[in-house]
Amino acid sequence: MFEWKDSYSCKVRQIDEQHKQLFKLGEDLNKIISNRDGEDHYDEIMNVLKELKDYTIYHFNFEEALLQKNGYVLPPMHKEEHRAFIEKIMELETEDVDSKQRKVTMDILIFIANWIEKHIVKVDMQYSQFLNEKGIY
Ligand SMILES: [Fe+2]
Ligand SMILES: [Fe+2]
Repeated sequence: MFEWKDSYSCKVRQIDEQHKQLFKLGEDLNKIISNRDGEDHYDEIMNVLKELKDYTIYHFNFEEALLQKNGYVLPPMHKEEHRAFIEKIMELETEDVDSKQRKVTMDILIFIANWIEKHIVKVDMQYSQFLNEKGIY
């Protein structure tokens, strides 16, 4: 489901490494939900959600700082999308994940899949050439 393709590459190594981490977290969640063993997966789901939260905060800070440092004017919409992602994760913390394990996991899987196609491919990709021209790969 979350397979990395070359077309996802922003051509900046550290950014690609971090984006790949999101693919991995998506795949981890996908595995948990595909496992229809009737067992309780609450702890595993919560672990991934915690990692996802740490990841997003770390990655967005890294990305925004790298761009700022190099004089890229971050479109407000870009920052706004980052904020909305963190808010989405925060929202999950207020939900009763235990009783809705499948629903919550599916919901976040769809969110990550959309994020890859809409944010990474369309929004992040906009700075790719700019950084490359500054000699950052
Ligand atoms: Fe971004
Ligand atoms: Fe990104």
